[in-house]
Amino acid sequence: MNIIIEEMSLNDLENIKNILTSEFDDFWNYDILKEELESENSRYIIAKLGNEIIGFAGIKIILDSADIMNIVTKKNYRNQGIGTLLLQNLISICKKSNLTSISLEVNEKNLHAIHLYKKFGFKNMGIRKNYYKNQNGIIMFLGTE
Ligand SMILES: CC(C)(COP(=O)(O)OP(=O)(O)OC[C@H]1O[C@@H](n2cnc3c(N)ncnc32)[C@H](O)[C@@H]1OP(=O)(O)O)[C@@H](O)C(=O)NCCC(=O)NCCS
Repeated sequence: MNIIIEEMSLNDLENIKNILTSEFDDFWNYDILKEELESENSRYIIAKLGNEIIGFAGIKIILDSADIMNIVTKKNYRNQGIGTLLLQNLISICKKSNLTSISLEVNEKNLHAIHLYKKFGFKNMGIRKNYYKNQNGIIMFLGTE
């Protein structure tokens, strides 16, 4: 697969607006993503196959660290390396921007995502109880220096 990683634009968001929850995931919504894309402190990227957006991911920068806000692969392209490619690119953006750490919060039941983060060296830093309705969130951290 010839996947291209590009910075995500508002136009890209418009392109996937109608399939955001059905074909990507139902956690995020259009308004929040639009706000994120318009924020100076956010960096979002997309994975493209031809003209099709098959994944996106983004960080919010707070001082010298980044929070991963989202990383999602279109449902019918999962388990083919797209998530790995997106995360690799986010980490490299953080390193190039001289950010010293990356953190994130993930649902404890989201084993695929946890596996992906651990693959890149993220460590569990703690649990946030009942963060996702009745499920706990795991806080993960990666030092990038
Ligand atoms: C988490 C997510 C982004 C992973 O994306 P992906 O494109 O499937 O990721 P990859 O194909 O690069 O796979 C990453 C790892 O997870 C494993 N994996 C992914 N899907 C899997 C599946 N269905 N069964 C078994 N393992 C799986 C892969 O084997 C791979 O590990 P490996 O490199 O050791 O083999 C994707 O599942 C997703 O979009 N989930 C919904 C949104 C979400 O929960 N995001 C995280 C929020 S914190």
